[in-house]
Amino acid sequence: MKKSVKAISLMLVVMIFAVIVSACGDKGSKVNVGIVLPTKDEPRWVQDEQRFKDALNGTKYSAEILFSQGSSAKEKENVDALIAKGIKVLIICPQDGDAAAASVEAAKKAGVQVISYDRLITNTDAVNYYVTFDSVAVGKAQGQYLVDHAKGKGEPLYLYAGAASDNNAFLFFQGAWEVLQPKIADGTFKIANSSEAVNLQGKAQLSREELSKIIGQVTTNWDAGEAKNKAQTHLTAAAADAKGDVAILAPNDGTARSIADVFASDSAIKSFVVTGQDAEKASIQYVIDGKQSMTVFKDVRTLVKDAMGMAVVILDGNTPQTTGSYNNGKVDVKAKQTNVIVVDKANVKAALVDSGYYQASDFKGL
Ligand code: BGC
Repeated sequence: MKKSVKAISLMLVVMIFAVIVSACGDKGSKVNVGIVLPTKDEPRWVQDEQRFKDALNGTKYSAEILFSQGSSAKEKENVDALIAKGIKVLIICPQDGDAAAASVEAAKKAGVQVISYDRLITNTDAVNYYVTFDSVAVGKAQGQYLVDHAKGKGEPLYLYAGAASDNNAFLFFQGAWEVLQPKIADGTFKIANSSEAVNLQGKAQLSREELSKIIGQVTTNWDAGEAKNKAQTHLTAAAADAKGDVAILAPNDGTARSIADVFASDSAIKSFVVTGQDAEKASIQYVIDGKQSMTVFKDVRTLVKDAMGMAVVILDGNTPQTTGSYNNGKVDVKAKQTNVIVVDKANVKAALVDSGYYQASDFKGL
């Protein structure tokens, strides 16, 4: 009898202690700003992580960065974990724009303000703000580069796109199409790898559904391996008149390098111009070496500064300033937008090294 009373009181003491410890633990791990990024497997997002870390030095608010590793389920877990840590602001770049709605709706319920970062979260009213680059301008710059470097008439044009689950893939392709379509219509380019694009080549403006059809056919899913396979398939199927001097719309640097490698290894391809974006270090080396024609530099420091700046304004109890809005299928989301810079061999040093973005020692043959 005595023994069991002792055991019970000991248990009670342990339980009370556990409650105190966990309460302290919660307080100790309170986080003000949660940051969720899509994957560590692409240099682009590792770059963003580093820039967030740099920006966080010396701020009075605490932040935690988590990666979703290409999984919307993991993304939701991350958001729930951050909500449990008491965040007041969530900065999130969704893996999948539609699927992320559930995460941000949970955040909204918990009184958290949501900033969609780089990629727009779609079809929900639980997004408060959007910080982004001018993504249509990215696509236009890619298209314009191909137009400016076109060789003669009827040049084969290979089209590739990003992941259909990423709203940006639509904006990039839309921007590129606006510039390329008139040059397809006047015979400068001849689409070589997409029957859907050929069906629509008479249309200057494409609807979301029409874009979907083309993207569905030429998507890389933002995956270098998938881009490589598609490029190989396309070149295997291509007739002789779809080779020679060609133009390639590649949506970003990771896919551009693998597509460029495939085209470089085909002896019937005499020359190619290939686009990219992100100014990834590996692609800067490709540009220096003449293996990738251009990239679009998106200064991640500005995007991070804007996102963190907004978060601090919100935490201080004020309303952030915005410059426009983006419709996400359900609401107009107030947005702050940043410009982009076209980089090729001619300005690579000035734009990326002299500007202090990268070190000269990161590259060979600059
Ligand atoms: C980003 C690009 C990136 C791509 C693949 C897009 O949403 O804007 O910078 O290359 O996703 O991760």
